[in-house]
Amino acid sequence: MKGKAKTALRCAIVMGLCTWIGVAAAQQPDARPWNDSKLSPDARARLLVAQMTQDEKFQLIRSYYAGPDRPSDKPMPKGAIASAGYVPPIERLGIPALEESDAGLGVASSDRMRPGDSATPLPAGPVTAASWDPQVAYRGGAMIGNEAHGKGFNVLLAGGINLMRDPRNGRNFEYAGEDPLLAGTLVGEAIRGIQSQHVISTIKHFALNDQETGRNTISAQIGEKAMRESDLLAFEIAIERGKPGSVMCSYNKVNGDWACENDYLMNQLLKRDWAYPGFVMSDWGGAHSAAKAANAGLDQESAGEIFDKEVYFDAPLRQALARGEVKQSRVDDMVQRILRSMFAAGVFEHPARKAPIDSKANLAVARATLEAGAVLLRNQDGLLPLDAARLESVAVIGAHADKGVLAGGGSSLVTAMGGNAVPGLAPKTWPGPVMYHPYPPLKAIRTMAPKANVQYADGDDVAAAAALAAKSQVAVVFVQKWSTESVDAPDLALPDGQDALVAAVAAANPHTIVVLENGGPVAMPWLDQVGAVLEVWYPGGDAASAIANLLSGKVNPSGRLPMSWARDASQLPRAEIPAATGGTPPDTVDYAIEGADVGYRWFQSRGIKPLFPFGYGLSYTTFHHGPLRLATHDGQLQVAVDVANAGKRAGAEVAQVYVRPPAAKVRRLAGFAKVFLQPGEHRELTIPLEKRLLSDFDTNGHRWLLRGGQYELSEGPSSEDLGAPVSLALPAGP
Ligand code: BGC
Repeated sequence: MKGKAKTALRCAIVMGLCTWIGVAAAQQPDARPWNDSKLSPDARARLLVAQMTQDEKFQLIRSYYAGPDRPSDKPMPKGAIASAGYVPPIERLGIPALEESDAGLGVASSDRMRPGDSATPLPAGPVTAASWDPQVAYRGGAMIGNEAHGKGFNVLLAGGINLMRDPRNGRNFEYAGEDPLLAGTLVGEAIRGIQSQHVISTIKHFALNDQETGRNTISAQIGEKAMRESDLLAFEIAIERGKPGSVMCSYNKVNGDWACENDYLMNQLLKRDWAYPGFVMSDWGGAHSAAKAANAGLDQESAGEIFDKEVYFDAPLRQALARGEVKQSRVDDMVQRILRSMFAAGVFEHPARKAPIDSKANLAVARATLEAGAVLLRNQDGLLPLDAARLESVAVIGAHADKGVLAGGGSSLVTAMGGNAVPGLAPKTWPGPVMYHPYPPLKAIRTMAPKANVQYADGDDVAAAAALAAKSQVAVVFVQKWSTESVDAPDLALPDGQDALVAAVAAANPHTIVVLENGGPVAMPWLDQVGAVLEVWYPGGDAASAIANLLSGKVNPSGRLPMSWARDASQLPRAEIPAATGGTPPDTVDYAIEGADVGYRWFQSRGIKPLFPFGYGLSYTTFHHGPLRLATHDGQLQVAVDVANAGKRAGAEVAQVYVRPPAAKVRRLAGFAKVFLQPGEHRELTIPLEKRLLSDFDTNGHRWLLRGGQYELSEGPSSEDLGAPVSLALPAGP
């Protein structure tokens, strides 16, 4: 376009109306060459940085808090949409504002934030992970990205991937389970989905923020090899796959250094070894210094005027620059990275602004996610699926199933259309409110079983609930455990006497089905007494229809656990989370105990049998897995396996491939594929193996190395149900 006179169409406000007029814009392309979308994001960012004043640069490297509960002397920044964070635009150069919203389960909102606003809630992160289906994760990401864009946001603080080292972590429901390959693959796909909508996605919380107790003070202690092969491998895979525009460094310390001033994490690993081109933003209250943080790789301080001791990336950073403690090139690099991510996501070309949202289609995405990720944990004597058309009576019990389904709490909380179905539950303020999404299972079960007398008991009166169960053909008991950001559960127990409720109902009616609404594994002392258990976690938008579809068999459950299910806390690496119920948390948490052996690898290394293993889940049909065969394709190691549906119903199965390196005690998930099969159908699946799961991280050479020797590969429907292993000889080396 250089040199050519061009006529552009411009919108001019004439007497209050927007009129399209032709303007001679010969200067336009040359004046703002960074607007040329044919250039690479890096080149565009470089052109723009070169034009910026120091004040403009400093404007971009900090965000303002845009949320509720602010001190009166710090009003909402002008132009910000009430949410989580805001960076004002730089109009002189056409740089749009950054409007940042939480989070991974939908566009977060609370009545305190944007009264009357609503969004579509996705089911909890473990549901998406339990689908073992990258497409499900992508579609969910694209859905929430689309809603964010249509509400005017161009940054989603979404991409939670902290590994589940402890089932009591209050934020497990925002994450994707315990395995680096599964979590990395699915979160990477969710990020890709979000960014397909021209919204920057933020993978978080980097890193090892694997418990909430003491999150602002505690140091996660772990060796380099162990973290590279576990939590950091999950980040590595997700970042490769999803290419998120930003990374949020976490609150905690890692090996003694704050994550947001951790040179190892941000500089050496993320930016050097992984060549990450995007920017690192601090968590809200996660910044602790100017020079140290800047030099360690922090690029943007988030909401420091409210949450940090001071706004480090303003006067303190300018002073550090003047003293020569930070180089100007570092400040320019911060700005370059932020702008580069904005260009890469299409934030300039596709401005986020209010647009109509297809809530019906989006609810269908949420429902499909739950239908793909709900896990059938138990099904005695084929109690499920219910023959819904013929059912005469159903008792629906507990967990406000007459009103809705539970959501997890904290910054990721989404208000669905219709608001909170059970308002007023404690805590009403942070980390509350406790929210029930308005999708009542009772109503959906009535629709599912039109001839049945479907009655509800709230479960407060255990005897009344048991009496209702006794006179009904089946009892569906909903149980709940609320979990939330900023606190961990002290134990694995269900609260409020629900164990006694389930036991009493099961004693009254052996056809008792338990539906679990929870953030992570819970103890189930009544398990042997009930007929069936369906895990739906926090099940999100239109959950009631999905639950009814799963119970009736309209949809065949195909979710597989993305985490191991401990029998009790004594099986875990740490029997308790100190100070989870209050008091002063210790200075450190020792993740070297399990190291890289998170979850199922811990159970295997100790020879402990969990209640349910990683990868486990039942179906209404049966599958046959053929023998595993090795294959290589273009130097890529892969295996082939034939999976057949040997039952009478259509359904989906997950083929899971585990590798045991020579002399290793434990197997690691190295590849997987999900396949949908009609009755009698079979399909040969080709499954690529992730090389890093066959390798060890070599801390001397800073690279992945094969030990060399005989590798044992096995395939099956769960980590503990595998076919005959096949041996593979591989040479030692990178
Ligand atoms: C959370 C982040 C969140 C941020 C902004 C923090 O408390 O840890 O996950 O994105 O708040 O709301």
